[in-house]
Amino acid sequence: MDVAAAIRGRRSVRAFKSQDVEQDKIEKILEAGRLAPSANNRQQWKFIVVKDHETRQKLARAAMNQSFLAQAPVVLAACATESQKVMMCGHPTYAIDVSIACAYMLLQAYELDLGTCWIGAFNEEEVKSILCVPKDVRVVALSPLGYPTSWPDARPRKGLDEVACYEAYR
Ligand SMILES: Cc1cc2nc3c(=O)[nH]c(=O)nc-3n(C[C@H](O)[C@H](O)[C@H](O)COP(=O)(O)O)c2cc1C
Repeated sequence: MDVAAAIRGRRSVRAFKSQDVEQDKIEKILEAGRLAPSANNRQQWKFIVVKDHETRQKLARAAMNQSFLAQAPVVLAACATESQKVMMCGHPTYAIDVSIACAYMLLQAYELDLGTCWIGAFNEEEVKSILCVPKDVRVVALSPLGYPTSWPDARPRKGLDEVACYEAYR
């Protein structure tokens, strides 16, 4: 599968089979995160793989009871191990760096026939407590990982003419 096909085909998946995810596929997905670019190549991230059923249930409760999170056999939690650095442009680097790594992992998962769904609606303090995440580390995103019961239809997107322009903002 080429990159364009993965970008076009990926969907947010919210219903999963109970089928386990092969360890070599999990490692390929983590590898995609590991190879992602980051500001000054600092790579200040940690990806937590959660397979334990009870822990997944707790995470789902901490994520506004989004129960599909626990239905998947694996939950990924993407953390930033440093959150103080601010780029010259004024944006904090950690959320950007970790988000790029997550995007890579979600696309890699799709290539391996695995479904994911970026989860941003969660109580960070609860998630940190469940996963024993140190105080100064931030949890940026969660995602279920598993084989979808089916692939959802594509969600609509704005047209290119609405989201892109040339030479100056208009
Ligand atoms: C930053 C971010 C946070 C999101 N949080 C959630 C969430 O908490 N729960 C959920 O079901 N989907 C969540 N989504 C998934 C979006 O709803 C989804 O990407 C969007 O509707 C487009 O659908 P698609 O991913 O299938 O193309 C989130 C996506 C992003 C990028």
